[in-house]
Formats: sequence, structure tokens, C-alpha cells
Amino acid sequence: MKVLAGSGSRVLGLKVARLLNAEMVDVQVRRFPDGEIYVRLLGEVEGEDVVLVQSMGKNPNELLVEFLLLADTLKDLKARKVIAVVPYFPYARQDARFKPGEAFSLKTVVKLVEDVGIDAMITVDMHLHRIESPSKIFNIPAFNLTAMPLLAEYALKTLNLEEPIVVGPDEEAEQWAKTAAESIGSGYLVLSKVRLDDYKVEISSPQLNRVKGRNVLIVDDIISTGGTMSKAVKQVSEAGAKRIVAACTHPLLVGDSVYNILKAGAECVIGSDTVQSHVSYVSVAPIIANKLKEILFS
Ligand code: R5P
Repeated sequence: MKVLAGSGSRVLGLKVARLLNAEMVDVQVRRFPDGEIYVRLLGEVEGEDVVLVQSMGKNPNELLVEFLLLADTLKDLKARKVIAVVPYFPYARQDARFKPGEAFSLKTVVKLVEDVGIDAMITVDMHLHRIESPSKIFNIPAFNLTAMPLLAEYALKTLNLEEPIVVGPDEEAEQWAKTAAESIGSGYLVLSKVRLDDYKVEISSPQLNRVKGRNVLIVDDIISTGGTMSKAVKQVSEAGAKRIVAACTHPLLVGDSVYNILKAGAECVIGSDTVQSHVSYVSVAPIIANKLKEILFS
């Protein structure tokens, strides 16, 4: 087995390769003067099972094209199997045609990714809300892992967040709040969100009194502009929470998101390395490596 990492996941790819004791195939990626992307594999892949790791968090459009070029080249060069690991799968929030005439973007991206002939897909905390499982949208074997237990354990053990209650900032986050809470044996509650625009949201809940005097772990799949997380932190803080830790799997961290979340009352922001950032304290490499062993060796 060999591992190949695109620009979206160089370090994570290396960590996965080490855990699997697999050889890394280096990749050259550069840009032509007009902006087109050039990729070249710097190693042999013929007859090999190859794991292609490419998160598509920041600059998703560029990383998607790079992924398509790499995956198609692997197939052209006769890799036996190509297992795609896309820890942050892009366009998953546009998982329906909400208004007439809109693109159902997730469907289009899945179609493109599958068309290059990959054999299986691994994602992490993909924004599956209206679609219950990856098998409802992918036609190849697809596995969605979760970083929530890792984040919850980090808050509990490393940050000593004693006996926390877990909070999901909106209804869509119930799945993540539940998983995080169950993994550390705590309770959870879910707030209610109304999105006003790309940056602004309103958050409320009649259950906010449950956080009074408690340590609180707020979990979400994504922190993008931080609008959702900072509003949730503010509500929880005003309701009398003791310590507040804000956690997400995918720290996209657009603009002043971390500043705004801290200013709202969180003591820190933690995330995983599905998207490499200065808050990526938790690595998803072990859960990815374990799933790959299960797929390839069982
Ligand atoms: C949407 O429902 C997601 O789960 C996140 O809550 C959302 O993407 C976060 O975005 P932002 O940080 O821009 O509020």
C-alpha cells in the first residue's frame, strides 16, 4: 500500500502513512501562469493499493481540481485500488436545492469525484444532515468517521473540563453533540439557530438554564465565519456557564472567527487536523488509519 497526499493534507497524509507503515509517494503540484494546476506523481503506483488523502477545506475549488487530476492519474498509471480520504468534503452544506434554480452542489461534486474511478471514500464528520448516511449520496463504498470522541476527550483530559455538559449550537449539530456527550458519559442539549445571512445567525433555546454553573463544551462540525459558534458561546455565557470550550472538527476559521468566539466568552477553541490550523490540537490520523486497515486488510 502507498499513500499520496495532496496540498490540502500533506501533514495529515504523512501521519496516516506512518501509522500504516506505508510508503509516501511524493507529488509535485504547481500552477501554470494562467492559473491552471499541474500535478505529477514522483513514484511508481502500478499494481498498488493507493490511499489518496486530500482535504478540501480552504480553497475548495482548487483542491477539488487537484484531487480530480491526482485520482485520474493514479487510475491511468494503473494503481490497483484508489481509496480516497477526504477528511473535509466540500459543498456538503448545499445538500439540496433550497430555492428554485439553485445547484444541488453536493450531488455535482460527488458525481465528479466518483467519475474519476475511485474505489472507496472516507470522510470525517461530513455535513450530512438531511442525508442520513454517505451511502445515500455515494455509489461507491463510503465511510463517514467522527472526530467528536477525540475532541471531547481532549477537553475532558487535557483541558480538565470537569463534568461538562455538551451543547450543539443548532439542530443540525445534534448528531455531533450526542456523539461527543456519549463518548465522555455526559448530558447534552441542542440550541436553535436561525440563519440571517452568510455571517449572521440568531441562537436561542428554552433549555439554556441547564448550563448555569456548569462547564460547557460546545461542539459543531465546522467553524467557518464563527458566526454560529460565537453566538452560541454568548448565549451560554449569559446563561451563567462556568468554563466554555468551543470545539469543531473542521476549523476553517475565516477572518476573525477565533477572536469573536473568544470575545464572546470561550476560554479556547479546539479543532482537529482535517483542516490544518493553529487550533488543530487533535489528529484524526489514528481513526483514518484504523478504517483503512479495516477496508484493505479484512
Ligand atoms: C451549519 O449548519 C454547520 O453545521 C455550521 O454550524 C456552520 O457551517 C458554521 O458556519 P459559521 O461558522 O459561518 O457560522
